[in-house]
Amino acid sequence: MKVLETRKAEKLHGQIIIPGDKSISHRAVMLLAISQGQGKIEGFLPGEDCLNTINCFRQLGIEIEDVGTYIVVHGKGLWGPREPQGELHVGNSGTTMRLLSGILAGQHFSSTVTGDGSIKKRPMDRITIPLRRMGAAIQGKDNGNLAPLVIRGQNLRGIDYTLPVPSAQVKSAILLAGLYATGVTRVREVIPARNHTELMLQSLGAQVEVEDGRITVKGSELVARNIEVPGDISSAAFFMAAAAALPGSHLVIQNVGLNPTRTGILDVLRNMGASIQLENIEQQGGELQGDVVVKGARLHGTVIAREMIPALIDEIPIVAVIAAVAEGITIIRGAEELRVKESNRLSALANELSKLGVQVRELADGLEIEGPNKLAGAEVESYGDHRIAMALAIAGLFADSPVRVRGSSCIKVSFPGFEDVLGKIST
Ligand code: S3P
Repeated sequence: MKVLETRKAEKLHGQIIIPGDKSISHRAVMLLAISQGQGKIEGFLPGEDCLNTINCFRQLGIEIEDVGTYIVVHGKGLWGPREPQGELHVGNSGTTMRLLSGILAGQHFSSTVTGDGSIKKRPMDRITIPLRRMGAAIQGKDNGNLAPLVIRGQNLRGIDYTLPVPSAQVKSAILLAGLYATGVTRVREVIPARNHTELMLQSLGAQVEVEDGRITVKGSELVARNIEVPGDISSAAFFMAAAAALPGSHLVIQNVGLNPTRTGILDVLRNMGASIQLENIEQQGGELQGDVVVKGARLHGTVIAREMIPALIDEIPIVAVIAAVAEGITIIRGAEELRVKESNRLSALANELSKLGVQVRELADGLEIEGPNKLAGAEVESYGDHRIAMALAIAGLFADSPVRVRGSSCIKVSFPGFEDVLGKIST
């Protein structure tokens, strides 16, 4: 088992570029695969999750060239995918599982989608319920709630669906199935989740309208174009948060995705007293990107409420770590979705932060952390969850003796090179 050891840092200093956005990389491969024509993806994240998406689409007969610095996808149109030989394996990737299911539901063949031990425990009825309502034929254990899912392609019809949980994966699965459906497909969201699918569909020429929390899609062909993937703000968050909490730090992270449905971490860090500036902001394919400049300061606790959660859903682990060294109480509520991520992140954080000497209370829907804590080094567990592993590695920068993260190889799911970047900027 791989163990990552991190030690106390005085500050973080330097200028870095972080790997491409995971959500956008997945969508770029999937949407170009079902577009007409070929498209180049620059800045694609070569993390395990996104490589699994490439493998699935290759198995579906889509030609994808990996040229190292960029990827070229040879799209075959909406019904271009072919019946795969054997099962489609998504590994650890919930995004691949759920979005791919939306595409497979409208094909003219049957397929089986499966993944690793974590994926097989995660709830899939959130997609099988609306997709079945569209006419999809999907089977899985526990009445279609658990992978492997067996999907028999069908003629689909549009639905009007209010998301019971704010989830971009569910929203996207329905919108993608909507491309294959007769009539109009409408998704309503009460709290907005990341909107990369809507933006990319629009930029590829689909008939998608967004208005007041309602997204409407009509059956439409997509036309390939080149896509540039910005750096992943969810990966940048580990270094942004650490730099923000280490006085004397000065860190510049270039070319970070700044889509407003993803920037909750900036708001939360600023609420905690962080100094963060955004520079060189521009737009590519509807997505904002720019440089993030962080200066270190003493941070204080904050309250994170339910309506803020979707915009920083993947950043809660690193927020919990920073809250441990901030002055005062941090309360995170309305975050029960964290229990069905790559691990049960609320329990994982409560257990492992306690081992480091942090005053932390696990709530049914969140965490309460009282700081500042003097962190002690310890051996901690990643639970096979990349974001837990990286958050705990960052905790080591604040600890009196080394923190050893067991099972750290999962970091390559979303952030190959994490350790090297950390080594480069910590002094
Ligand atoms: C993602 C959406 C989020 C997020 C995940 C990636 C996406 O999941 O946690 O890491 O790419 O759509 P949910 O939509 O299930 O909240």
